[in-house]
Amino acid sequence: MTIADIRGKMRSNEEILGRVDLDDPDAILAVTTLDETDVVHAVEDNAEAIFTWNYEQGERPALNRLYEKAKTSQWNGQTDLPWELDVDIEKTIRDQNAVFNPDSTDLVPPFDVSGTPLETWGDKEFLELGIESQNHLLSQFMHGEQGALVCTAKIVETVPWIDAKYYAATQVVDEARHVEVFAKYLDTKLTGHYPINAHLRMLLDDIIEDSRWDMTYLGMQIMVEGLALAAFGMLYQTTSEPLLKQLLRYVMSDEARHVAFGVITLQEYYQNLTTAEIRDRQEFAFEAAVRMRDRFMQQEVWQRMDIDVKPLIPIIRQDPGRIMFQQLLFSKIVPNCKKLGLLDAGVPEGQKGWLRERFEEMDVIQFEDLADTGEEYETLDAVAQDRATQS
Ligand SMILES: [Fe+2]
Ligand SMILES: [Fe+2]
Repeated sequence: MTIADIRGKMRSNEEILGRVDLDDPDAILAVTTLDETDVVHAVEDNAEAIFTWNYEQGERPALNRLYEKAKTSQWNGQTDLPWELDVDIEKTIRDQNAVFNPDSTDLVPPFDVSGTPLETWGDKEFLELGIESQNHLLSQFMHGEQGALVCTAKIVETVPWIDAKYYAATQVVDEARHVEVFAKYLDTKLTGHYPINAHLRMLLDDIIEDSRWDMTYLGMQIMVEGLALAAFGMLYQTTSEPLLKQLLRYVMSDEARHVAFGVITLQEYYQNLTTAEIRDRQEFAFEAAVRMRDRFMQQEVWQRMDIDVKPLIPIIRQDPGRIMFQQLLFSKIVPNCKKLGLLDAGVPEGQKGWLRERFEEMDVIQFEDLADTGEEYETLDAVAQDRATQS
């Protein structure tokens, strides 16, 4: 079989995403959010619940180690964070902005917005945008955490290995705690919730609907949580707000374990898949990456502020700080996909694989040789580090 034969079997961008150009603003903005008044959203879960009668604990030592680690690194979202601290949101926004634009004395961006709906805006309006963006970001974190809660409950049911069921059960508790702390932060320290972003919802729906147990891992543990781990890390680095900093530090301790769970499990499982099955996984990884990138447009914020975002898109896209920030969000996903063999699967050694080319198209391939999370998760365990210094 030639490389052209292999490539020919991959679906096109249009078939996978419903658009040819990854950056097509009309197609991205056409996916809109659900009715905000709906409280319940039902998704068909097509997977079988699997029992195993093989109770041999530790058959998969790496998963067993992760399980033991998860049991000792639990924390309490109510009592282990400094909720008594007040949050000065204006200071938080100004400090975060100063990290990206150290030379500016106000929140007006350093690029030209003339001819756009923002041309009359001053510091006051950009502060309001900053506050809304923070509400939106933390809301999406909260919704994503609920996605993880539902997905790991699904993994408990569907994965056929006892060591993985044990570990996934600890992750369900972790994710409940994460939803809890983000919801509490939004309710008590910020100024409003946002509904789930339409692109994020579409991705979570796809993950839940898939009948194949390993797709829950790929969609959630590798893609959604990989991006979350990088996003939490960047917000942790750039925020001066002490409560948020500590919250993110503890959530990241758990998330690193969660991504490691995905890497360790899929590394074993992918060994026995056929080329055609791996191709499906490559396409799913790419689709998930684009759906998450589409979310960065934060269209719900512009909608709420009554701004037509379309004329702004080309300007926003050229902002170097934003470009770098968005690329860095893939700094965990790309090395983990490489570790799983997804970048170059299906082509002879030395040839460029299909997912590698897609990540080149997204301009994120440069992270491929960073540490994968299967290796680095223990260094991120801030809960264990704090306990060691306290005792
Ligand atoms: Fe989480
Ligand atoms: Fe997680």
